[in-house]
Amino acid sequence: METFGETTTPAALPVAELHLHIEGTLQPELIFELAERNGLELPYTDIDELRTKYQFTDLQSFLDLYYDNMAVLRTEQDFADMTRAYLKRAADGGVRHVEVMMDPQAHVQRGIALETCVNGVASALSTSVEEFGVSTLLIAAFLRDLPEDDALEVLEQLLAMNAPIAGIGLDSAEVGNPPSKFERLFRRAKEAGLHRIAHAGEEGPASYISDSLDLLDVERIDHGIRCMEDETLVKRLVAEQVPLTVCPLSNVRLRAVNTLADHPLPAMLAAGLNVSVNSDDPAYFGGYVDENFRELIAVHELTVGDRALLAANSIRSSFLEDDRKEKLLAEVHRWEIAAE
Ligand code: HPA
Ligand code: ZN
Repeated sequence: METFGETTTPAALPVAELHLHIEGTLQPELIFELAERNGLELPYTDIDELRTKYQFTDLQSFLDLYYDNMAVLRTEQDFADMTRAYLKRAADGGVRHVEVMMDPQAHVQRGIALETCVNGVASALSTSVEEFGVSTLLIAAFLRDLPEDDALEVLEQLLAMNAPIAGIGLDSAEVGNPPSKFERLFRRAKEAGLHRIAHAGEEGPASYISDSLDLLDVERIDHGIRCMEDETLVKRLVAEQVPLTVCPLSNVRLRAVNTLADHPLPAMLAAGLNVSVNSDDPAYFGGYVDENFRELIAVHELTVGDRALLAANSIRSSFLEDDRKEKLLAEVHRWEIAAE
């Protein structure tokens, strides 16, 4: 174990965060700060009252608050401040690379210009390597509960403005909004040279995972935990080493699993699935990546080797160029040697 000054502290596990909604990093303190800066009246008298709303029964109960809270994001500076706060906290927790999702439609719908949200987030990302040592990519996620034509229109606008996006994702209310609804969107994104990912098998059935692969040609699945209900699908995901970006604390808070002790991550790892650990919406679900690891380790036997494998999976499953992947994999290797 490495020593730091007087005390012996384990260094943070170096990871890539691949499943992170930037709007889900908006902390209650910043919500109040931005409301004041923008002269907005919040429907809560103080942070404590706002915090009482963070009790979720399912995905939709979370999404309702998540979209409501976005009302305080008005200017480029607001988006940049939120993004910078995340990057700083993530870096402190060992994140060395992040692929940030943002929800452009959620902002356009409430009258914010596409340029405002994209440029605000992108400006903070552009200085992240120098400021925090964290490399970044931006992914535009589309809201699956809206019509495909709406998504196509926003994608065309993003392409026309040369937005610095590396890929597209698919999020929001999963059940009843199957992958088949977005075939044209994903075809257009591929044609434009963009990477493709989709949420599937969080609340929705295992068939949404295979349909995302077959109909949308995605390169990663966000969540994917319900694959465990389909043995044939697990075999396929193992054979193809499809990356599954798992978010343990999110799954507990949104009641996709009952408790962390019931979480399938150890079984998924044992099955040979390509899983990584991610935070999803850390301001809402009680933890950043390091806290997801800490809480997992408190209830599951995850060896140093298991943790290094989860970290290596995250780096290999990223859309980084090979030389940065190699550098980060070497950091994981050094962490493993020091931790043993
Ligand atoms: N699931 C689906 N959509 C989302 C989530 C999530 O966990 N977070 C933000 N949008
Ligand atoms: Zn998510």
